[in-house]
Amino acid sequence: MEVGEIRRRYLEFFRERGHVVIPSASLVPENDPTTLFTGSGMQPLVPYFLGQPHPEGKRITNSQKCFRAEDMDDVGDNRHTTFFEMLGNWSFGDYFKSEQLPWIFEFLTDKEDGAGLDPANIYVTVFSGDDETGISRDKESVEIWRKLFSNKGIDAKYVELGSIEAGSERGMQGGRIFAYNVKKNWWSRSGVPAKMPAGEPGGPDSEMFYDFGTPHDPKYGKECHPNCDCGRFVEIGNSVFMEYKKKEDGSFEKLAQRNVDFGGGLERITAAANNDPDMFHIDVFKPIMERLPESLPIRNRRIIADHIRAAIFLIADGARPSNKGAGYVLRRLMRRAMIYEYMTEDVKLDIGLVIGGLIAKYKNVYPELDVETITSVYNEENAKFLATFKNGLKEFDKLVKKGKISGGDVFRLFSTYGLPYESAIEFAKERANIVVDEDEFRREMEKHRELSRTASAGVFKGGLADHSERTTRLHTAHHLLLRALQIVLGSQVKQRGSNITSERLRMDFSWDTKLTDEQKKEVERIVNEKIAEDLPVIHSEMDRGQAEKLGAEHEFGQKYPDRVSVYSVGPKSATPENPQFEKAFSIEFCGGPHVSHTGEVGHFQVMKEEAVSAGIRRIRANVA
Ligand code: ALA
Repeated sequence: MEVGEIRRRYLEFFRERGHVVIPSASLVPENDPTTLFTGSGMQPLVPYFLGQPHPEGKRITNSQKCFRAEDMDDVGDNRHTTFFEMLGNWSFGDYFKSEQLPWIFEFLTDKEDGAGLDPANIYVTVFSGDDETGISRDKESVEIWRKLFSNKGIDAKYVELGSIEAGSERGMQGGRIFAYNVKKNWWSRSGVPAKMPAGEPGGPDSEMFYDFGTPHDPKYGKECHPNCDCGRFVEIGNSVFMEYKKKEDGSFEKLAQRNVDFGGGLERITAAANNDPDMFHIDVFKPIMERLPESLPIRNRRIIADHIRAAIFLIADGARPSNKGAGYVLRRLMRRAMIYEYMTEDVKLDIGLVIGGLIAKYKNVYPELDVETITSVYNEENAKFLATFKNGLKEFDKLVKKGKISGGDVFRLFSTYGLPYESAIEFAKERANIVVDEDEFRREMEKHRELSRTASAGVFKGGLADHSERTTRLHTAHHLLLRALQIVLGSQVKQRGSNITSERLRMDFSWDTKLTDEQKKEVERIVNEKIAEDLPVIHSEMDRGQAEKLGAEHEFGQKYPDRVSVYSVGPKSATPENPQFEKAFSIEFCGGPHVSHTGEVGHFQVMKEEAVSAGIRRIRANVA
């Protein structure tokens, strides 16, 4: 069974039952400041649960493109993906449980017009009730399910579990219908009732699971049960009975109308229809999976396949790689896929063919997938990525050839070149069977965190290291600028504050009067001269006392730990082994990141010079 066929059958099934098929909304919602991505089919429909009439009526269906960034780390097993399609049908104050459950069961089990699943492999869950909200057990759904299974000759036993822990302890007990608490059988955009903001709609739900019959893995608990994470049971659909709203005082009231919000994973239902627990075997992943060599571990192939497919859909909906918001998530996704590709010598993906192949699978349903746009965005980001990490990748290769990679090496690749450390550790193991001492790596990281907490431009400042190429160039320009100011105005000039984004650099320094045009020109000239000399930028660590003795610049008022990180620029013949500090053009206490040679900085220009307070001036500058 193919994804396109299941999608077609589902929409047709609900169309025949009075539903209007609406198009998928964008993955990147434009008018919703509360969320970066569309993560469920109901998200664009919230007003209609609360009572606003939907222009297409009370019965709606679609297949919604969804993206869940929070699942990125789970990708790699046989069933998690960041992008997926959610089949959805909705009742806005129209039908309820006694229509929804029979219909969805019919769709899943019908061989002609549905997914054709064997009912013996379907297990269901219902809401066990909750003392806190006072909302009681969903007995009605239990009775409906009992009848539905009975019609198929299955005697469906009801089992009360409540919590996951109870499930891991007591297991299946011959059950077919299982009751769980709010953690598993309550649905709202924000999760359990306690987490919902006032005004938010939600309700008890009833989930369906497909039993792939794989053996239980005791790592996930002593006994297996439908909500166990071992992979035997995979959730394929969820009918939410959205009839409550949270009030200001934290209690719940019934909405004016009873709604149904059904969501089912299209790819998972297709995998179930093929009775194959590996989602990455379904047709839509073929164009990429079949181009990845089997020598590559399956987990890596799945990550590449998932991330590239997700990136294609995000780009088609207008996202562009950047350093914030949806663009940042897209960039992370693409770079992770690229890392998995480039750190493996035997992968030479023809990305054009992959993109073309994937789009061919979807083009008739999602015409917004434009091969040319997507390929060009992809290639541009790829080129940037290679420029940023090429030195790190080269270093990594050298270490692999030497056959030894220490925790300190991985840390250095990360702090100097921005090479993602999880990938470096993973690849050391997979490519060369080199086990990195992760404790050592973490110790280095901690040590550096300590160094950077106080350094003015720490790698870890503000959480995420910004290793974008522009920001890195601006960091180095910042050091050159300080030194140039001291040459032009005098060595008494000290840094009093700094701020660097990918757009520009800003430096506050001690000085009383407005700089003359000649002074500004001379500062620019000196910085550009040092850039033209292509001086090496060297990273060292040393005791604070030693750095102070060398006259390393530090920001006034900052406290530094006993061991510090220092960057020096020049002379031409400096190397990490022999940094020749006494001949350096600039030395600063700094956490990085920096370019490896000043030539990479580009042309430097002062944009603005102004007063911030008495005795403090501010310069904004940029590189081109
Ligand atoms: N909105 C429900 C979910 O995402 C159907 O599970």
